[in-house]
Amino acid sequence: MSTRDKLLELLESSSGEYLSGEEIAEKLNISRTSVWKAVNSLKKDGYDIRSLHNKGYSLDANADILSEYGIRKFLNGKNKGLDFDIREEVTSTNALLKKRGDNGEKADLVMIAVKQTEGRGRFGRSFFSPSGTGLYMSILLRPVNTTVAEATMYTTMAAVAAMKAVEELTGCRPSIKWVNDLYMDNRKVCGILTEASVNMENGCIDYAVLGIGFNLYPPSGGFPEDIENKAGSILKYSRADSRNKLAAFFLNEFMEYYRSGSRSSYIDEYRAGSMVIGERVNVIMPDSEREAYVLDVDEECRLVVRYDDGSEEKLSNGEVSIRRIEG
Ligand code: BTN
Repeated sequence: MSTRDKLLELLESSSGEYLSGEEIAEKLNISRTSVWKAVNSLKKDGYDIRSLHNKGYSLDANADILSEYGIRKFLNGKNKGLDFDIREEVTSTNALLKKRGDNGEKADLVMIAVKQTEGRGRFGRSFFSPSGTGLYMSILLRPVNTTVAEATMYTTMAAVAAMKAVEELTGCRPSIKWVNDLYMDNRKVCGILTEASVNMENGCIDYAVLGIGFNLYPPSGGFPEDIENKAGSILKYSRADSRNKLAAFFLNEFMEYYRSGSRSSYIDEYRAGSMVIGERVNVIMPDSEREAYVLDVDEECRLVVRYDDGSEEKLSNGEVSIRRIEG
């Protein structure tokens, strides 16, 4: 662990109390100059460290600081083997992990960024990922003998895992809008994008990158115009460890489903959390739109709909979008 991370850990554990430079230097077995340098490096990265002449340094007790140390505090025993790469700013955690996947990086690497400049969404859309407001995370997975069809279920597992993680953090359970968006108070608070590299020889997955973006806090300048009526945030105010907890709670749930491979463990939860089963929706195809009633979500996470002429169809994600008809 670097001096900077050790200092962060120390300040976090003193819950807003001041620690003198001398005390820190002694505890970390470093010089006062090194303490000063580490404090400046943390401040430069946006950490709200207060310094008072006679008292020393303290970290706002409500500061939500993303760190590997912070995530590991809430990770269950089975996930201690996950590797983390936590960055201040990246283009896209999915794009970077895909490159690492192509270069043979080993599985179970989790990349999290404070900010993404080119966050990717589904259907080639962008995902708004400003600093200090969200959790942008991707996991590199290398499943054995897994077909593309089987791997599409990672998105379903992730939706259920995210729903449970948000509930664990806030006490409120979001709803899942087929196929992979989470909504709270009728606003989208989380999106999921799974990308994969396929081995053409055997039709199986070489690796998959599961990416998830949570809108945790309201962005200071508001959401951009194109999503301002649709996007929302999970919490209103900063709370210590929220991003660390959300990341850990999500990983605890998701990795459990991923390892178990049993659909029954999450499909029923998916159905129970769905906001579209039993509702009227607009089924949006690339060149048409049609109203339908949603009957169910099947074992492959296809949306089972009935059109007004009585015909039924099973819709696969990737082919269609739906919009719930309010009323
Ligand atoms: C969507 O809502 O269309 C999916 C959004 C997925 C966003 C996440 S944020 C972390 C990861 N990196 C990306 O570039 N995208 C995913």
